[in-house]
Amino acid sequence: MKEVKRNILLNPGPGTTSNSVKNALVVADICPREKDFENLMSSVREDVVKVINGSEDYISVLFTASGTGGDEAAISSAVPLGKKILIIENGAYGTRMKEIAKTYKIDYVEYSIAYGDYPDLNKIETILTNEPEISHIAVVHHETTTGMLNPVKEIIQIAHKYNVEVIIDAMSSYAGISIDAKEWDIDYIVSTSNKCIQGMAGITFVIFKKAFIDKLKNNRRSFYFDIYSQYMGFKNSHQMRFTPPVQIIYALRQALDEFFEETTEGREKRYTDNWNILYNGVQEIGFKPYLNYKHESKILMAIKEPDDINYSFENMHDYLYQRGFTIYPGKGAKEATFRLAVIGDLYKNDMHDFLVELKNYIKESGITQF
Ligand SMILES: Cc1ncc(COP(=O)(O)O)c(C=O)c1O
Repeated sequence: MKEVKRNILLNPGPGTTSNSVKNALVVADICPREKDFENLMSSVREDVVKVINGSEDYISVLFTASGTGGDEAAISSAVPLGKKILIIENGAYGTRMKEIAKTYKIDYVEYSIAYGDYPDLNKIETILTNEPEISHIAVVHHETTTGMLNPVKEIIQIAHKYNVEVIIDAMSSYAGISIDAKEWDIDYIVSTSNKCIQGMAGITFVIFKKAFIDKLKNNRRSFYFDIYSQYMGFKNSHQMRFTPPVQIIYALRQALDEFFEETTEGREKRYTDNWNILYNGVQEIGFKPYLNYKHESKILMAIKEPDDINYSFENMHDYLYQRGFTIYPGKGAKEATFRLAVIGDLYKNDMHDFLVELKNYIKESGITQF
């Protein structure tokens, strides 16, 4: 196995991958229309469902795209013509789902609150009562903008009282937090190969109730991101309709094997442990978290930028980057923040090593006001 330099990525994906996932990219060339590749594709499609305990009631479709493509496929394919979608917006990824609805000219109702504010379930229910044309809700599970874990389980319960289906963007929570499709009664859930499942970027997937497939036939708005056609492609030929990113799928297969070996609980515990080390460590240095603790995902934290003339995110980033650690800027929260995520093949030592360098930087740069 080839060893390459191991960088510690604390950005919210693509994350640090294991050496075995990196090496899984190097395979003999194969035409994706061959039976061997079809078998690989089928195993990946089945196993992305198993990650969330989807069993035989759920199916998945994969697309060659980043995660936004999966959101686009779910929104453009699920909402029946003439119906409305309620978008819950408390971060940049909620805003993006609104942009997707706008682009496809799907009527939407927005429940928009400030980035980092917690959704009020009563308000969501009132909207559903007042707007009987709503057939779907789109909500982000882990709002990567702030690190907030939105109450999707409760939102599903409310939605189902009104016969409304829910599209969950679980881009940065899938495989990092235990999600139970059957217990939560999930309708649609979207994620990507390059976040908590710890594969490489290039594949997005939508997992949904098998029983929905027939009704999706009539909702097609997109040619490429059409769930119905993509599913029919898999069903009839076990292939993607269009060219798949062959090597990325081998890496995703390896990442799935590593996930099942670690187990859902093991992955969640490792992430939570890493997050706790960072969360306590940055506060010992003097930094202040942005969110109320009870809303934290324990996958990412937004940290308030110090109010000190010596502070510069760029300088701090460059200092850490030169030492093998990548940190991430903020994204539109009410106050200026930067972000640290624990998405990836990362361990406690990595967190401790990072904190040593961060502490050194703060000392050297003379930052005292947080
Ligand atoms: C919650 C959420 N949704 C959607 C996306 C978009 O994913 P991509 O950049 O892979 O298109 C991201 C990416 O970070 C995300 O965190």
